[in-house]
Amino acid sequence: MCGIIGVLGKNEVAPLLVESLKRLEYRGYDSSGIATVNGGVLDRRRAVGKLVNLSDLLVHEPLAGKSGIGHTRWATHGAPTATNAHPHKAGPVAVVHNGIIENYQALRAELAEAGIAAQTQTDTETVALLTRMFMERGMDARTAAVETLGKLEGAFALLWLFDGEEDLMIAARKGSPLAIGYGDGEMFVGSDAIALAPMTDRLTYLEEGDYAFITRAGAEIFDAEGRHANRSEQRIELGQAQIEKAGYKHFMGKEIAEQPVVLADALRHYLPQTGLNMPEELDFSNIDRISLVACGTAFYACSVAKYWFESFARIPVEIDVASEFRYREPPLSERGMTIFVSQSGETADTLAALRYCHEKVAKTVAVVNVPTSSIAREVDIALPIMAGVEIGVASTKAFTAQLLVLAVMALKAGRDRDQLDGPDLACHCDTLRSLPGLMNTALALDAPIAELAEHLAEAQDILFLGRGPMYPLALEGALKLKEISYIHAEGYASGELKHGPIALIDRTVPVIVMAPFDRLFDKTVSNMQEVMARHGMVLLASDAKGLKAAQDGTWAQLQLPEIAEPFAPILYAVPAQLLAYHTAVAKGTDVDQPRNLAKSVTVE
Ligand code: F6R
Repeated sequence: MCGIIGVLGKNEVAPLLVESLKRLEYRGYDSSGIATVNGGVLDRRRAVGKLVNLSDLLVHEPLAGKSGIGHTRWATHGAPTATNAHPHKAGPVAVVHNGIIENYQALRAELAEAGIAAQTQTDTETVALLTRMFMERGMDARTAAVETLGKLEGAFALLWLFDGEEDLMIAARKGSPLAIGYGDGEMFVGSDAIALAPMTDRLTYLEEGDYAFITRAGAEIFDAEGRHANRSEQRIELGQAQIEKAGYKHFMGKEIAEQPVVLADALRHYLPQTGLNMPEELDFSNIDRISLVACGTAFYACSVAKYWFESFARIPVEIDVASEFRYREPPLSERGMTIFVSQSGETADTLAALRYCHEKVAKTVAVVNVPTSSIAREVDIALPIMAGVEIGVASTKAFTAQLLVLAVMALKAGRDRDQLDGPDLACHCDTLRSLPGLMNTALALDAPIAELAEHLAEAQDILFLGRGPMYPLALEGALKLKEISYIHAEGYASGELKHGPIALIDRTVPVIVMAPFDRLFDKTVSNMQEVMARHGMVLLASDAKGLKAAQDGTWAQLQLPEIAEPFAPILYAVPAQLLAYHTAVAKGTDVDQPRNLAKSVTVE
């Protein structure tokens, strides 16, 4: 969503704030701003659009000071204008905020009654206005901030800076993550460890309801009841390499290329030569139902996994997008297991769905990339996907790593429930272990895909087709393409085409068919023929056998290595991602930071 940074430093902080915001820009890029205290005077600079606009502004209107806060915004309340940009300031108070103050309308009305008018359309401004009001009534900065907190409803992370206070920041967490970083005579606050990585690896994550008074001497942390809280300090290893492009033009390109290594790391952990390595307590033997819940790309990973759990473990599986699940309040089985899949581990809808399940099911499990995230901390069992930091807003390596962990879980479920015999299990494990090598071969399609993408970039609409576990991959291929190239794309189950969508087909519509040579291949070929008979441009991605068996008439073909049927979606994710990536590059869109999106969606 939005990104927050704060520094009580030894040197000028403006360059450090901007540098940190650069690393947080993946969270939102509608506007950005910083505020500093210099000689006791609080001042700010804000700019609409990408961070580069703020950097340019600071060249002409520099901001001095050794204490400062900064923000990069993904707009929720109020258009992305300079007025609505953070930090919000009211008299001696500046505030940056991530999340939503749900009762801000009621608070505005209360402020209006006290004769205080809002200047912006944002919910955040009410925080600054309330704090100023309390200070004007005689409270000091600390008391006023705590008093303000008591009035706020919603999910948020907040950071305050005050006029006349060169050695004070106040931080609060309720629903959105916030980390305090310790330096040598310096202190930092950030939305995540990535923001703080070059400055410190010593972090304390605030817990739900915590607030902290931060000075250069350290942080005094309190829990929601106002009691002193002891929160442990962690060392976060976040190699600088992980947060740089390492010679690639885009983070997304780098992250696509990293997949063989990412999967090899996860395989070493979850599938060593000695067999499945999953926590003991992840026991499927007495479970009567599995619910898989997630959003976006992570939801498509769940949709693929449904096929695996059903086929390996013969267990009923439901899949749900978290935003529907949480409000539908579905009946759950006490013997059920709910699995939440999330790259960030902070997605508001997924977190709310998890909270709905507490105490209602036998086990809650999370498949997450950020092991310190809220979701990872609140579930019974957290399984890290170990993909490393993912910066590109469009998820790539996290998707395939989620699939890998879900695949190993499904195999364990099959074993726990005596549905998979030894040889079948061994065969599936071997296929999973072969994935890094196969993915390397698939990555060699980069150049031919870049060529095809020049044509795809001209299209208005693109369809993706797949059958069985390749159907959710078709959905993911379409999502990837539309989010970064802005071309309208849809994924369909191959067999569904003739029930309506075939009406869309004409010579201008590319139809991308993802079809390994499996037991359903002939059926997919028939669906392909239906498209070609209507002059649709078919791009067939298949293996050598499939390409040979398919009759001529395709517009283009991509040859992938052979892989056993159930796990083909993990391999075919690579060409799907490369097609989206190169089409976006050909169109000249902003690949890593597509319009209107943000990496971590901490509002519902
Ligand atoms: C698409 C994408 C999003 C996320 C979704 C869930 O490329 O990245 O659809 O998958 O917002 O995010 P997480 O996995 O962080 O819960």
